[in-house]
Amino acid sequence: MKYDLCIIGGAGHVGLPLGVAFANVGQKTVLLDTNVEVLNMISSGSFPFMERGGEAALKKALKAKTLLTSPDPEVIGQSDVVVMVIGTPVDEHLAPNLHGLMKVVESYSAYVRTGQTVILRSTVFPGTSERLQRYFDKKGLKVGVSFCPERIVEGKALEELSSLPQIISGFDPKTVKKVTTLFSRLTKRKIVVMEPIEAELAKLFSNAWRYLTFAVANEFFVIATEHGLDYHKIYAGMTEDYPRMNLPRPGFAAGPCLLKDTMQLAAFHSSNFFLGHAAMSVNEKLPAVVLRQLEKKLPDMHDKTIGILGMAFKAESDDIRESLSYKLKKIAMTKAGAVLCHDFYVDDSRLVSLKKLIKESDAIILAAPHKGYSKIDPKKYPKKVFIDIWNFWPKNN
Ligand SMILES: NC(=O)c1ccc[n+]([C@@H]2O[C@H](COP(=O)([O-])OP(=O)(O)OC[C@H]3O[C@@H](n4cnc5c(N)ncnc54)[C@H](O)[C@@H]3O)[C@@H](O)[C@H]2O)c1
Repeated sequence: MKYDLCIIGGAGHVGLPLGVAFANVGQKTVLLDTNVEVLNMISSGSFPFMERGGEAALKKALKAKTLLTSPDPEVIGQSDVVVMVIGTPVDEHLAPNLHGLMKVVESYSAYVRTGQTVILRSTVFPGTSERLQRYFDKKGLKVGVSFCPERIVEGKALEELSSLPQIISGFDPKTVKKVTTLFSRLTKRKIVVMEPIEAELAKLFSNAWRYLTFAVANEFFVIATEHGLDYHKIYAGMTEDYPRMNLPRPGFAAGPCLLKDTMQLAAFHSSNFFLGHAAMSVNEKLPAVVLRQLEKKLPDMHDKTIGILGMAFKAESDDIRESLSYKLKKIAMTKAGAVLCHDFYVDDSRLVSLKKLIKESDAIILAAPHKGYSKIDPKKYPKKVFIDIWNFWPKNN
């Protein structure tokens, strides 16, 4: 075969680091993607989004000629293993869109060959791997389907691919063996073998768990704050030298995965996932809570300017997918005279400079605590209101 691996969705946040990591352990890898502009950036050595160590690792793989890019689906048939990592969003009713993934599979099925291994790396609705295996079986293609969930935290994929145990699964021993060998090249950590349905649920449980813990943190914050108390002081006291209180800090819990995977799990369990839905209402209401806090400190908001710092969904990221900063902006626009937004990393022509935002805003809300904002000292602006749910500028609270 011309390639060891073909990654469908290879220009994306999961596909690209994974492809680079495999290429750098000697696997001849081709990234197949419909986004030709981004493929061109990649092949010229430029990493298209923020990823720690990404650019150096990409350049290394390109130099070694183990990493190639292509928009041509012919490369699928020229690869021993095919990995699928396209997006799997929920729809406007928060229902999983299994149809979208299967449509992509169908569009490429003419290139799939008997003897290949097809690995699903997208996070999927439970049962999708089995559906895919049945699909190939019905077509008379002897293809081994495997589900191997991606568990990295976005932005640190290249570090975590080699430091996390890899969960793998398959429907037959030959596929399991092949996929075990493949992932053993990436990590010296354990390869954990499960049934495909177990691995699918393990991924959804992991993301729902994280989303729930953020919701607990946020709800505690809201309870304390709305009773006029300093939650951060309570947090510091209750977590000090007390390992059972392993609670995250409050903050916007957003991004392309946690909410949608919690909702996939809810859909799998016939919408009987009360904790998941409760977590969604707690986490999603935080922008409104923040504005309620602000309204108390800045009564005539309708003729005031609000500044929002950090539009990415989390700190030190340029990813705005499902960012609660944009939800905050939309609600703020219904209440304030003007809303100005800033981010160091996000590419959005509507953003303003940090200088302008600080100068013109009556109130400043820290939405994503990028490190660069630590240079701002709220005490220097006594006439402005600062809202900082993260306790990023502790002395201001
Ligand atoms: N982003 C994360 O941190 C993360 C972590 C773990 C798991 N996941 C899961 O991984 C999957 C991918 O997420 P992502 O963040 O990488 O998405 P993404 O949007 O960044 O990447 C998807 C890529 O697929 C490409 N694509 C779409 N349709 C295609 C097609 N028909 N043929 C070829 N390429 C196509 C897109 O152009 C894009 O480059 C999702 O299921 C997600 O839930 C994401």
